[in-house]
Amino acid sequence: MYMNVAEHATVAALLRCCIRELPGQAFPAGPYTMVRVGGVWLRAKTGGGTALRITEPERLTGSAWEPLTSADLVDLVARELPGVNGEFAAQVAGSREVVERLLAARAQGKPPEDEWLASEQDLVFGHPFHPAPKAREAARGDWLAYAPEAYARFPLRLLAVREDLVVEEGDVSALDGIPADVPPGYRLLPAHPWQYELIRPPVDGDRLLDLGPAQHDVLPTSSVRTVYDPLLDKCLKFSLDVRITNCVRKNAWYELAGGVELSRRLTPVFAALTERFPGTRWLPEPGYRTADLGGELFEGLGVLVRCSPLGRCGPGVTPVLAGALALRDLGGDDPVAWWRSYVEVVALPVLEAFLTHGVVLEPHLQNVLVGLDAAGRPVQAVFRDLEGAKLVGHDLAGVREEVARAMTYTPEKGWDRVVYCLVVNHLAEIAASVDAPLDTLWGVAAEEIGAYGDSIGWPEPLARLMSGVPLPAKANLTVRWERRADRAATYVPVANPLVVA
Ligand SMILES: Nc1ncnc2c1ncn2[C@@H]1O[C@H](COP(=O)(O)OP(=O)(O)OP(=O)(O)O)[C@@H](O)[C@H]1O
Ligand SMILES: [Mg+2]
Repeated sequence: MYMNVAEHATVAALLRCCIRELPGQAFPAGPYTMVRVGGVWLRAKTGGGTALRITEPERLTGSAWEPLTSADLVDLVARELPGVNGEFAAQVAGSREVVERLLAARAQGKPPEDEWLASEQDLVFGHPFHPAPKAREAARGDWLAYAPEAYARFPLRLLAVREDLVVEEGDVSALDGIPADVPPGYRLLPAHPWQYELIRPPVDGDRLLDLGPAQHDVLPTSSVRTVYDPLLDKCLKFSLDVRITNCVRKNAWYELAGGVELSRRLTPVFAALTERFPGTRWLPEPGYRTADLGGELFEGLGVLVRCSPLGRCGPGVTPVLAGALALRDLGGDDPVAWWRSYVEVVALPVLEAFLTHGVVLEPHLQNVLVGLDAAGRPVQAVFRDLEGAKLVGHDLAGVREEVARAMTYTPEKGWDRVVYCLVVNHLAEIAASVDAPLDTLWGVAAEEIGAYGDSIGWPEPLARLMSGVPLPAKANLTVRWERRADRAATYVPVANPLVVA
């Protein structure tokens, strides 16, 4: 049974990529979307005109439509795309197997009681426009034991670093709150237990000591490598030498430093955003700690402290991961009013951050928590993950060159990233789950954004967005097929749903 669900999710994700990324080869036909891949016609029902709702994927064989399998589709993709990729088929099959095993594990397990944490552990199918959204490629280790979607909990591995080798910036005092017997002259450095297995740090000398597993459990959040520690009430973001979607999840040294630098610089920006849009929150990353044991270990053992969302939303408001909301039936009794609030709390501060403050947030569905009031209405948005946040046109004099480079975008690249994450990745997926016609919902979004545009005198990028230009969508199939680094990802144009009436 789980196999069928996993197989369907796998075909659907890969087919969505084909529909998006093979220009001129996909078109709507009644209740279907047709697409030609590897010389074969394929079709699937796409409810409400969105590829997010794919059912009944089929291939034309002779004059008959037959069910399309993921193995078939992988073969056709390999025929369609230029060159050869010997690992692609295994990535797709691996992703399918992960989904199947997650579903089985969930049937035996119990979600966390806290609603926010439960939502972090709900992304069973992952990114809907990625060819292998749930693949977890690692050299060793039992991924299931660390999987948020399997309701995993585990103790961190505690290390102690000789004091002269500790590297840290900002406020990492939270880490010293983890109960441990740290010998004099050493500082505590918690490690993700999977990463400890993967990189096998040298704990046989006196520079780094192994103190064994912590006495309490942490819970993994949706990114797998960031955990929530209930004892500290903090999130800890670790490096993890595991390929998840397009990246091996390693914190580069300049990203560790950049997170702390950005937290400082974004403090006044978010204060201004919250003044203008009172529902705006964020999760600062006040500090990081690692060990000066050479480049690999410096990055492999680095840990960033991130504020917890609990308590940041105030009484009566529950943060829920936007990606988990996208899997639910949304809107309640008044779907259009619900959506209007959603656009207001999520989209307007993101636009204001870019247009007024030169700050690019990365508001994709995994980086935003939405605060719901007691009636389930969106009243706040909590932005997190400063790795993807960038500055445009800021004076970064005094910041180390690599750090400055990694936290800067050109205006064009920054705006494209905002539009992709906010509209194509985030709002489109939420809209597809709201119980109202898509035309109505996009009309409302255009009204809200239009009123905001009126209030700030229509800066050029916003005017262009609302004039109906095509939007950039990340080409995850191409990225994986060509084995590109995520930062070299290509984008393809998709239709702009935001047309001012
Ligand atoms: N629309 C989406 N639906 C589901 N998953 C998504 C979506 N968009 C992005 N993701 C997934 O979210 C995951 C984590 O993304 P990201 O790189 O932002 O997190 P991270 O930097 O590793 O950790 P953190 O968010 O804790 O800082 C990726 O696997 C990505 O594919
Ligand atoms: Mg993230």
